[in-house]
Amino acid sequence: MAEIGQNIEKAVRILNDDHLVGIPTETVYGLAGNALSEKAVLRIYQTKNRPKFDPLIAHTNSLEKVKDLVTHLPDVALQLANQFWPGPLTMLLESNRVPDLLTSGLPRVAVRIPSHSLTLNLLGKLDFPLAAPSANPFGYVSPTEALHVEDQLGDKIAYVLDGGRCEVGLESTIVGFEKEQVVVHRLGGMKLDDIENVVGRVRLKVNHSSNPVAPGMIKSHYSPGKRLLLGNIEENLTRNENVGLGIISFQQDYHIPNVKQVILSRDGNMEEAARNIFSALRQMDNPNIKLILAEHVPNEGLGLAINDRLERAAAK
Ligand code: TXA
Ligand code: MG
Repeated sequence: MAEIGQNIEKAVRILNDDHLVGIPTETVYGLAGNALSEKAVLRIYQTKNRPKFDPLIAHTNSLEKVKDLVTHLPDVALQLANQFWPGPLTMLLESNRVPDLLTSGLPRVAVRIPSHSLTLNLLGKLDFPLAAPSANPFGYVSPTEALHVEDQLGDKIAYVLDGGRCEVGLESTIVGFEKEQVVVHRLGGMKLDDIENVVGRVRLKVNHSSNPVAPGMIKSHYSPGKRLLLGNIEENLTRNENVGLGIISFQQDYHIPNVKQVILSRDGNMEEAARNIFSALRQMDNPNIKLILAEHVPNEGLGLAINDRLERAAAK
């Protein structure tokens, strides 16, 4: 059992010893360890059961610390940093100052300043950045509450800092730079429109194959461990026997007796839907549910990232 609490000094002690702590961010909870310590980084991969070819994000609390970590900060990156950090945006930046294990030997390091007061406070008390993937076993749904971390990794870590429910609920948007052009590698909690308002058109290079070298991960990700049918719920309902069904809808209530249903946002509010998507998938992880019926949300704003996660959950 991991202890859940708000004791930052305790988290500092554990992290200084190369051990791991669950940390809150505005996107999802992270499984954090010293990003500059091979020992701590190795522990992260082992604890998550994550393949070492899937690199980790380094989190800091200031642009100065980011500058110390990287060898080159393109002008557009600086613009984005000034506009959106702290926030749900991760940037891939050139570096030779971090362990290869952190970047899986890739030439760039993923960096982010998260927007959460507890974690910013914690980062301010450390002499190193924190490597933090989402705090879930590899391939499973990302945690958006301290209890989710305790449920899944509680037997492997000592402490989870409790920062309440994640405000955004989707992982950060990941961008890289090619000749000063912004390339989006993972759709996430920062809307493309907002990024484009600052830097102009971006290029989408979101990976939908199982090529693990690109960020944005392996296709069958975010799985609640059972089959998910993504499409018109009404049609899929008539085609599938009413046994062991679970439904994740955007707005509509289907009122089917004995069927577990989660509505992402009755008002059709995309921010609310984003906050709820991972806990919705998690609630389907129930032995009575054999098949999940879900539908796309409107493909705009955060809806792009929600649909991306639903498609990956359906890909298994
Ligand atoms: O919102 C988030 O980003 C959360 C919170 C905890 O900050 N973290 C998170 O980490 O989602 P993770 O490890 O679950 O996803 C990070 C993704 C991975 O898919 C990885 O492939 C990509 O970032 N990535 C990390 N470092 C990279 C690098 N050096 N080059 C290319 N891709 C990288
Ligand atoms: Mg993850």
